[in-house]
Amino acid sequence: MAGISRRNLLTSGAALTASSLAARSAWGRAAALLAGYPQAASAEALAAVAPREQLLFDFGWKFQFGHGSDPVRDLGFGAGQGDFAKTGDFAFAKARFDDSKWRALNLPHDWAVELPFVRDDAQSSHGFKPLGRRYPETSVGWYRREFDIPASDLGRRIWVEFDGAFRDVLVFVNGCFIGRNDHGYAPFRFDLTDFLAFGAKNYIVARVDSSFGDGWFYEGAGIYRHVWLTKTDALHLGKWESTVRAAVSDDGSALLTLGTEVQNDGKQAENAKVSWQILDAAGKTAATAEAPAQSIGVDGAGTFTATAKLANPALWSVDAPNLYTAIVTVEAGGRTRDAERVSFGVRTAVFDADKGFFLNGKSIKLQGTCNHHDHAGVGAALPDRLQWFRLGVLREMGCNAVRTSHNMPTPEWVEACDRMGVMMMCEARQMSSNPEGMAQLETMIKRYRNSPSIVLWSVGNEEWQLQDAMAEQGSKIAASMVRRCHELDPTRVVSGAVNGDNEKGVTDAFDIVGFNYGLNRPDGYHKERPKRPIYGSETASAISTRGVYSTDRLRNTLSAYDVNNPGWGEQAEEWWKFYATREWEAGGFMWTGFDYRGEPTPYGWPSVNSQFGVIDMCGFPKDTFYYYKSWWSAEAVLHLFPHWNFEGREGEEIPVWVHSNLDEVELFVNGKSLGSQKVPHLGHLEWKVKYEPGVIEARGTKDGKLVLTGKRETTGPTVAIRLTADRTEIDADGEDVAILTVEALDKEGRPVPTAGNLIGFKVSGAGSLIGVGNGDPNCQESDKEPRRSLFSGLAQAIVQSTKRPGEIHIEAAKEGWDGPELAGAKVVITTKKVEPRPAVALSPPRSS
Ligand code: GAL
Repeated sequence: MAGISRRNLLTSGAALTASSLAARSAWGRAAALLAGYPQAASAEALAAVAPREQLLFDFGWKFQFGHGSDPVRDLGFGAGQGDFAKTGDFAFAKARFDDSKWRALNLPHDWAVELPFVRDDAQSSHGFKPLGRRYPETSVGWYRREFDIPASDLGRRIWVEFDGAFRDVLVFVNGCFIGRNDHGYAPFRFDLTDFLAFGAKNYIVARVDSSFGDGWFYEGAGIYRHVWLTKTDALHLGKWESTVRAAVSDDGSALLTLGTEVQNDGKQAENAKVSWQILDAAGKTAATAEAPAQSIGVDGAGTFTATAKLANPALWSVDAPNLYTAIVTVEAGGRTRDAERVSFGVRTAVFDADKGFFLNGKSIKLQGTCNHHDHAGVGAALPDRLQWFRLGVLREMGCNAVRTSHNMPTPEWVEACDRMGVMMMCEARQMSSNPEGMAQLETMIKRYRNSPSIVLWSVGNEEWQLQDAMAEQGSKIAASMVRRCHELDPTRVVSGAVNGDNEKGVTDAFDIVGFNYGLNRPDGYHKERPKRPIYGSETASAISTRGVYSTDRLRNTLSAYDVNNPGWGEQAEEWWKFYATREWEAGGFMWTGFDYRGEPTPYGWPSVNSQFGVIDMCGFPKDTFYYYKSWWSAEAVLHLFPHWNFEGREGEEIPVWVHSNLDEVELFVNGKSLGSQKVPHLGHLEWKVKYEPGVIEARGTKDGKLVLTGKRETTGPTVAIRLTADRTEIDADGEDVAILTVEALDKEGRPVPTAGNLIGFKVSGAGSLIGVGNGDPNCQESDKEPRRSLFSGLAQAIVQSTKRPGEIHIEAAKEGWDGPELAGAKVVITTKKVEPRPAVALSPPRSS
């Protein structure tokens, strides 16, 4: 095998076994993975190895809009020259500041999704939300929180850690300016220790400014990821310095190379010793290791390394995402001073120029999707559970890899991939070797280098200048970035997503070559450079509207048959046929798994979403989902479409398609056979049918035996609503969510696929409604109001628990329109008592 062969390391927590996975159907499998998700796992494990405390800092914030250009409406900030003149002078971050009129909210929070839509073509990337320098009144937000630091914390180091915020953040504590962040995706943290009042109340303020953006897609605004308050001993492990690298030998054993850094922020030199305990998925000790003690001077740091062996490791793979945990412990002065948990997995990942990609020595194609990070109803502020839900939908399609286009992901998305067995191409936002670009890159690698799901790093996407006019500089910039990736993580290959010429520029520096689109390029490239491994960093960009079977420029809809793509893209069937039939292609990442806000292509206003997804904004599959499922999953598939409600089009020819991986499919219209067809490999089936109301039915056979049938019936009008929850029991932890599907039914209980009725929701009890959606790219209804129109028969409502166990009652009923009565629907979600993740305590209301 020619080409690059880098061995990889891995990552964490309770794993699911292959047999438990195989025992279930794919939908059931995804659901089981979701159900098994212990939200508090990381924190619990950390607590078990105290004395470190990692407290969720999400609850009990106050919020108010500031202003991007008028200091008077921005808490007076920037009114004079001397804003940063005196330390300790910021009144808004002190005790006496009155925030009683500010809005109370919990994080994660995205204020962009709450804003109205504006008809302004310059805002299309934001999904027509008023953000940016021309909208100063909705582009700056202030967050404020009072918190207690007990006197017993004196002597510890205390950090505030943001997993990510959009975008430019200034942090103040107790009147002092602490630090700033100037990007939208990488995590950042500040050491607050010197600024805190011990045994007293403290005040933190974050001014978040989304006047500038990082992308050409919806990015959200505000503190849209988790925040943590982390407390350690003065002698502590360095942030993201612990690494576990697993090298698999021919005899099946794995040599673990363990490393970490200990930092001494105390007042005296310390003689520190580091030990590792490796736990398997069942929590049993699989190996231990120790590094000799070293003296670490005041303000100094020491690197510790050791090795350990796993004689017969359970490998991490797509089918069996086995994970291990390393508990890394620092001891000095006869006691444990700090400890942390590092999740890892054992696997090999090899890209080969002749034969494509190999996971654990087995050939496997990357069946990948690119995705942005927002979801219906909640924008960029996803509760953790939604990450699992979304990945479950992708897995159900047979997707085995995701690309975090075009930015560093949310930690829970990576954790979901580690635990659910989905590979990842993890991408940096800024392709630059300038200090900011390098800092972001380093943070990304350090943060995620133990995650087994990540099989390649991407230093960025489509930098036209660096590939063309500045190709010479591009090659140097990329080389610096690739070098740094290799230094920080010698186990993985590095790439980037290139649209255009791969003969020069940044591609020179890449270990493996990513092609965005352009199916006319890879064959020639492979012939001329047979030693360079190749994959599709971005493909397809096919566009379709869920449940709509005509392309209508006046209505901004795109037919849901796989027939539309912009000039630069390809239909699903085109790109996958190309990649699937070339052994040397490692596979690729299609654009996109889910629709996302912004980039409304090919139409503009009133479209507010993209239509690139094979799944809509809510997670409802479009028809092409089943094309991929046919050729990406091991399950038998038969998907018949369109619906059969074409009133008024009697006698017209309607294309009837089937996506299937069976041998043959026979189509019946009202009981009459229209003939049987052989399923073409990697293709689909098509009949032209004169429309008459009734039933169409497809019967699929394999080896001559009937395996699956699919049916579409002409339904009657909507008479009732159905509400179905993904789970009827969730955790009472103030974070967990239930995801409700809202459907319209006719009098025989059949879903009405064309229904568009407006439905209102009433939510009461131990939870609240946090968002609604319907997947319609042209819908400008609020994501936050308790009502939503159905789109192609479906809508979604998301409810979140409080920390009080009980019941959430959700009612759905017809709202605000004349016409026949509908029978409403009701669902009760039980929220069960759990130990919530350790969190910063809420301050009691002030007496005055
Ligand atoms: C690509 C780009 C993506 C998205 C896509 C739409 O060129 O990398 O971010 O814009 O086009 O087709």
